[in-house]
Amino acid sequence: MIKFAIVGCGRVSSLHFAAIEKAPDTMLAAVCDTDEAAAKKAAEENGLSTYYTDLEEMLRKEEIDVINICTPSGTHADVAVIAAAHKKHILCEKPMEVTSERMQRVIDACEENGVLLSGVFQRRNTDMVQIAKKTVAEGKLGKVILADAYLKYWRSQEYYDSGDWRGTWELDGGGCLMNQGIHGIDMLIYVAGRVKSVTAKCATLARDIAVEDTATVLLNFEHGGMGVIECATSVFPGQDTIISVHGTEGSISFGTSGFLSWQLPDGSEAPAVSNDMGGLNCAWAGNSLHAILVEDMAEAVRDGRKPLVDGKEARHAVDVILAIYESARTGKEVFIQ
Ligand SMILES: NC(=O)c1ccc[n+]([C@@H]2O[C@H](COP(=O)([O-])OP(=O)(O)OC[C@H]3O[C@@H](n4cnc5c(N)ncnc54)[C@H](O)[C@@H]3O)[C@@H](O)[C@H]2O)c1
Repeated sequence: MIKFAIVGCGRVSSLHFAAIEKAPDTMLAAVCDTDEAAAKKAAEENGLSTYYTDLEEMLRKEEIDVINICTPSGTHADVAVIAAAHKKHILCEKPMEVTSERMQRVIDACEENGVLLSGVFQRRNTDMVQIAKKTVAEGKLGKVILADAYLKYWRSQEYYDSGDWRGTWELDGGGCLMNQGIHGIDMLIYVAGRVKSVTAKCATLARDIAVEDTATVLLNFEHGGMGVIECATSVFPGQDTIISVHGTEGSISFGTSGFLSWQLPDGSEAPAVSNDMGGLNCAWAGNSLHAILVEDMAEAVRDGRKPLVDGKEARHAVDVILAIYESARTGKEVFIQ
């Protein structure tokens, strides 16, 4: 049994509890939240007799292999550094952190302590993303020319007011891009390739928040192809996610629940897919997708191998978003390191 402990028992933690229950040979060992009521409730609901409000105390007292970091985004490094120092492997919710320096702190802490680091990008595990990635990698679209992500969501003012960290630079790290759009940006990168540079405009058009609720981006990929991102939490009603990849020989696009177009030179039909991203505008992609990451982490710990989404993989989408913010601030094209 690989023993997992959840730090941060808010909204997303329910997916982690369900995933640990579902994945084979994994178990929940402990929970911690600085809000005692949240920690107590999570312990009661998940069959634990103890709960913690102090991370160090939990790490001293409990036998734990992996810490699942489910705290506000701009606190991930603080938790990770302490957990790694106690030789715990880390499964970290997206975004890994909200600045380049803080992401590097997470990666360095894991490397220095010889523990594994896995990021949560559960939508990579949908059938359609796996099929799309393989199709592009096998060259079936020819040379990739254009690759786009349309990420138009709706989040109310009440959503932003529901937690004092939401919609802040310090703890959310940004707005529609860093919190919601990051999933689509990660899928785009995973399927179509790493991004070399961006030119962007960001604006706050509809919500009373410090960060962007609307963004448009021009992309240049490392392979020479180009693309666009449109992202918002300000449009009503929210729309399905759409990712499109167009090559010299074929084009595919997929949305929240399956392929929207499949135009390959072999004339094949779009493959049927058995899972989706969790429904229209649903931030809570199906539990099974988190369970795949929990199972992968348990196997990686047992076999001493890299997890599916390692630190380098987990940080690229955040690096792209940070470059978008810099471009929007400076009006210049920004190159990703
Ligand atoms: N993968 C996904 O689809 C997905 C969906 C939603 C949220 N998330 C990510 O999960 C993280 C949490 O989001 P949420 O919506 O669950 O937030 P939330 O506000 O509902 O929950 C966060 C919890 O962490 C606790 N907390 C804060 N600081 C802490 C600390 N230092 N130590 C222990 N507990 C602490 C809070 O008391 C709260 O209970 C964010 O990084 C977010 O981006 C991912």
